[in-house]
Amino acid sequence: MDKVLDLIKTRRSVRTYDAKKVESSKLKALSDIMEENTKGPFGSAIRFKIIHASESTENELKKVVSYGNIKGAAIFIAGTVKTGEKSMEDFGYSMEKNVLMATSMGLGTVWLAGSLNRSNIALGMNASKDEVIPAISPLGYAADKRSIMDKVVRKVSGGDNRKEFGKLFYLSNLSAPLDKSVCSNYYEVLEAVRLAPSASNKQPWRIIKDSDKNVYHFYMDENKAYNNVFKDIKIQNIDMGIAMCHFELAARELGLEGSWLAENPNLEAGELVYIVSWKG
Ligand SMILES: Cc1cc2nc3c(=O)[nH]c(=O)nc-3n(C[C@H](O)[C@H](O)[C@H](O)COP(=O)(O)O)c2cc1C
Repeated sequence: MDKVLDLIKTRRSVRTYDAKKVESSKLKALSDIMEENTKGPFGSAIRFKIIHASESTENELKKVVSYGNIKGAAIFIAGTVKTGEKSMEDFGYSMEKNVLMATSMGLGTVWLAGSLNRSNIALGMNASKDEVIPAISPLGYAADKRSIMDKVVRKVSGGDNRKEFGKLFYLSNLSAPLDKSVCSNYYEVLEAVRLAPSASNKQPWRIIKDSDKNVYHFYMDENKAYNNVFKDIKIQNIDMGIAMCHFELAARELGLEGSWLAENPNLEAGELVYIVSWKG
C-alpha cells in the first residue's frame, strides 16, 4: 500500500463513477485483503464482500446506483458486523481500511449509510439475525465530470471543509485547545483524523491529550437525534471507528507505538461521550 498519510490526504468521496470496469486483478486483491479483515479493535466479528449490482435478487443495488446522488457504480463493498458493544466503531475501523486500500488502487469510494434498503442488501450478504449492515460503498473509477446531484450533495454536506485543529483536539481538558508544538510527531496523526470522512461531514471526533504522556482520549460529540435515526446503526459511532483507523494507521506509519484501551479517565468533558484511549 502507498503511504497511508498520502492516501488519507488524497481520498475524497466519489459519487459519480466512470463506465470503465474495475480490473478483476484489483477486485481479487481487494477480496483477499477483505478476507483477512474480519475483526475490529474491540473484537466484533465482521464480514466484507464485493457485490455486483446485478447479483442482488431485488436489484436493490441497482436502485441505490440510480437513487439520488450516486451515479454509474456497478460494484459495491458491503459488510456486516455482529451487533454488540462497540460494534459500530469496529465496523467503521475495518471498513475504512478497505476504503484506503481501494484508494491506493486508484479506485473511488463513498461511505453510504443513509438511503439504503438494508434488507435487500442483506440477501446478497446472507446476513444472519444478529448481523447488521451499517454501511456500504460503491467501488469504481471516478468519472472526469461529476453529476449535478453530486455537486449539490458535496456542497450541502460541506465535504471539503474540516473543523480547525484546535476545535477538535485538546490538552487535558476542553478549555485548552491543543497546540501543534505540544504533540510533536502526533501532529500528523491528528491531522489524519481531521481529514477522515464522517457522516454528513459532522466530524464528531474530539480528542483530549493527557498533559504529559502520549495518551489520547477519544470522545464523541454526539448529535443524539442524528445518531439514532437508524435503530441499531449508530452512524456517529461508525465515524469514531473511522477516526481510530486513521489515527492508528498514521501512528504506525510514523513508527509511533501504542495500543487501544477503553478505560474512561473521567476527565471533565462536558456532554462528550467517552469511546477509547490510545496509550502511546
Ligand atoms: C458513516 C458515514 C455515512 C455516510 N453516508 C453517506 C450517504 O448516505 N450518502 C452520501 O452521499 N454520503 C455519505 N457519507 C459521505 C460523507 O458525506 C463525506 O464523507 C463527508 O461529507 C466528507 O467528504 P469527503 O469524504 O469527500 O472527505 C457518509 C460518510 C460516513 C463516514
